[in-house]
Amino acid sequence: MASVIWDKDGAAVDARVQRFLAGDDVVLDRELFAFDLTASRAHVRGLGRIEVLSKGEVDALVRELDALGDAFATGAFVLDARHEDGHSAIEAHLVERLGEAGKKVHTGRSRNDQVLVALRLYLKDACARLEARDAACARALLDRADADANTPMPGYTHLQRAVPSSIGHWLAGVAEAFLDDRDLARATLSWLDASPLGTAAGYGVNLPLDREGVARELGFSRLVVNPACAQNGRGKVEIQVLTALLQALLDVRRFAWDLSLYTTAEFGFVALPAELTTGSSIMPNKRNPDVVELLRASPAVVQGALVEIESVLSLPGGYQRDLQATKAPTLRAIDRGLAALELTEVVVRQMDLDRARMEAAIDAEMFATDRAVELALEGVPFRTAYRRVADELGSLASRTPAASLAARVSPGAPGNLMLETLRARLEG
Ligand code: ARG
Repeated sequence: MASVIWDKDGAAVDARVQRFLAGDDVVLDRELFAFDLTASRAHVRGLGRIEVLSKGEVDALVRELDALGDAFATGAFVLDARHEDGHSAIEAHLVERLGEAGKKVHTGRSRNDQVLVALRLYLKDACARLEARDAACARALLDRADADANTPMPGYTHLQRAVPSSIGHWLAGVAEAFLDDRDLARATLSWLDASPLGTAAGYGVNLPLDREGVARELGFSRLVVNPACAQNGRGKVEIQVLTALLQALLDVRRFAWDLSLYTTAEFGFVALPAELTTGSSIMPNKRNPDVVELLRASPAVVQGALVEIESVLSLPGGYQRDLQATKAPTLRAIDRGLAALELTEVVVRQMDLDRARMEAAIDAEMFATDRAVELALEGVPFRTAYRRVADELGSLASRTPAASLAARVSPGAPGNLMLETLRARLEG
């Protein structure tokens, strides 16, 4: 490693300590690096506005930050163990390129607020991507629900045949859940949309920093006002984003469970195209829905990350290096969770539905509830009607799924799916 930015007297830190502290932090910082550079540019311009840096220095620093960003994007600059972390790499680059001006970049900031602002920008971006992926899943499901709005399939409770349902009803139900998830992602983004930059090590600095201007340039809608609050929020913000992600993945899991059942030969309702399935190493006959199973496992990654982060947060006020340990689970969970949502949309759009098998799985006894409600409408008390129908289940054979669905007009039900309402919410 090149010398650390905090070196004062040349005293070398034990290499084992250095390795242990750094861990894989510098590698994780690759995900945050572009955000760190963006925040650094804003910080430099802010210092220019309060005349801590001259215009020439600001221009030179911004130019070199841009150049480092370009070099990072093309791979010409690799963030690796030569540096303690991404923050140090930025300063080292600026000092190497600009000398004295580079040494001024850290005026009025600490790596503590530097990592906080990079994380907030990263988490805002993650929330925006989550919002978009939730919406994409909802859109794909609504498209398929529209296409098969009235196609019959069995409705189950306890995994037992219950009442006739429709493909439209099944898929619109999953779509609406993703709309809830989309709204949660949106609300989470606005909840965390506050700039911690300019809080320094957690106690502010003796400079009239233009925190508002810097926050505006970075696209934040407000400040985390109190520097201690900014520090103590680390991990809590991550938990909230991962919670929004987990909500979506719980819907992925339920849907994946349905697909896991429906793709069995026993159900045979759904088939995945060959490009979404995998083979067995020993059984030549097999195509497996592994993708559905790993979608089903995706919440475990996020749940594990939440536990890991929460476990770190038993801390006194102020920055503690423990907080670095919240970074890996956060990045891992977001990466995996967003990938799962991306694939969910693909599966929804590409799955094949066997409409004949679905309709054939509706047996006459499943019309029993319709009949009991009809009798109730004729004035028979519902409990009496219920018992009468239970005794006459054989009398339901002439009914059809199409008629059952058409009559199920309660709002949201298969005969009144209100897909336009869901569509309007999606576009809203
Ligand atoms: N890698 C560190 C983290 O993630 C950056 C902040 C370091 N601050 C410090 N005071 N050592 O927390």
